[in-house]
Amino acid sequence: MKRTLDSIREERNEWKRTGLHRQRRVLQRRKDARLYQDDKEWIDFASNDYLNLASDERLARAAGWAARRFGTGAGASPLVTGYFAIHRRLENALAAWEKAEAALVFSSGFAANLAAITAFAGQDDVLFSDQLNHASLIDGCRLARSRICIYRHNDMDHLESLLQHNGNHARRRLIVSDTVFSMDGDLAPVRDLADLARRYDCLLILDEAHATGVFGSEGRGLADALPLPPEQFIKVGTLSKALGSQGGFICSTKKHIDWLVNRGRSYVFSTALAPTSAAAALQAIKIVKAEPERRQKLLQLAKTLREQLEAAGLSTGGSASQIVPIVLGEPERTVAVAKQLTQSGLVVGGIRPPSVPPGTSRLRVSVTAGHNSDDLLALVENLRRILAND
Ligand SMILES: Cc1ncc(COP(=O)(O)O)c(C=O)c1O
Repeated sequence: MKRTLDSIREERNEWKRTGLHRQRRVLQRRKDARLYQDDKEWIDFASNDYLNLASDERLARAAGWAARRFGTGAGASPLVTGYFAIHRRLENALAAWEKAEAALVFSSGFAANLAAITAFAGQDDVLFSDQLNHASLIDGCRLARSRICIYRHNDMDHLESLLQHNGNHARRRLIVSDTVFSMDGDLAPVRDLADLARRYDCLLILDEAHATGVFGSEGRGLADALPLPPEQFIKVGTLSKALGSQGGFICSTKKHIDWLVNRGRSYVFSTALAPTSAAAALQAIKIVKAEPERRQKLLQLAKTLREQLEAAGLSTGGSASQIVPIVLGEPERTVAVAKQLTQSGLVVGGIRPPSVPPGTSRLRVSVTAGHNSDDLLALVENLRRILAND
């Protein structure tokens, strides 16, 4: 046992030595893009509450109603006794909103991605996965035990060449991608992906975690009305970011959704989404449809921030969304700059490996509809000052 424990200790020390160790901050409250702890207050540029709905009173009321009506927890897997009328209503609302035949809700977006990949791919199949896909898609690919071909980020020529040379006799082929990349804020060429999926006979799985509620007509996301037969497309989304609740979902054809109900292990072997989260998400969908000004404000603020940062000489890479990266390189520097921002009243995510490739540690700024133009100015001015003395 000594050798085992020594090796764990060594690994932990190495993790700390290279600046990768993370700690959590205990907060008293989060509201309107502000974080509160004791007598301290920060502007929050680190959350994914893009439409500022997580602290909306209407969602809180819906969750409270569901807790009294159905209980605070679902109590069991959906296939046992954990599936309530509120889940069904949410699935119907998601399917109608996303213009899909059917939808299925999960206890997290992570679980939804695991199910989306492992239910449709196995040992005899080949997966084509973007190099910068989210960890949940990467883990889904690994769990599927399929052969994995990783294509260069958003490089459709590379993807096509891999499609030409790999798995032509495989049982199935799947293309898997984020639509808004979570650490770079750039967008996948979804129509090109759909075109390749159609031409090379692949199932296309797109993860809209950062696009749902933000992009597209009625906030449906980027993968809207793709030129692909519905049975060739699986859309994954989350309830936990712009929708201000918790959980994940998949939209597709009735047959695919039925298959996921039967074969999605993270669906079958996990307690159903809490009824409170389902009710809050249902309320959020109504608000997203009725209040387009939220996403319009969000995208305008994000554009302004990118312009202001670029004007200050700070590159925002390929960002075209509410996620704006400022790459600083090494983890230690990133942590130091994030810490100084915190001391100046601004919380910004300091992102390090393994969330991003080595050498690309960064500040990940996420803009929300709860911010205002003064918040953006405060961020740009503080960044300019801190980096000038860095
Ligand atoms: C691209 C992407 N997909 C999926 C997820 C997982 O979603 P959830 O937080 O609902 O588990 C995340 C979360 O960070 C994400 O960034």
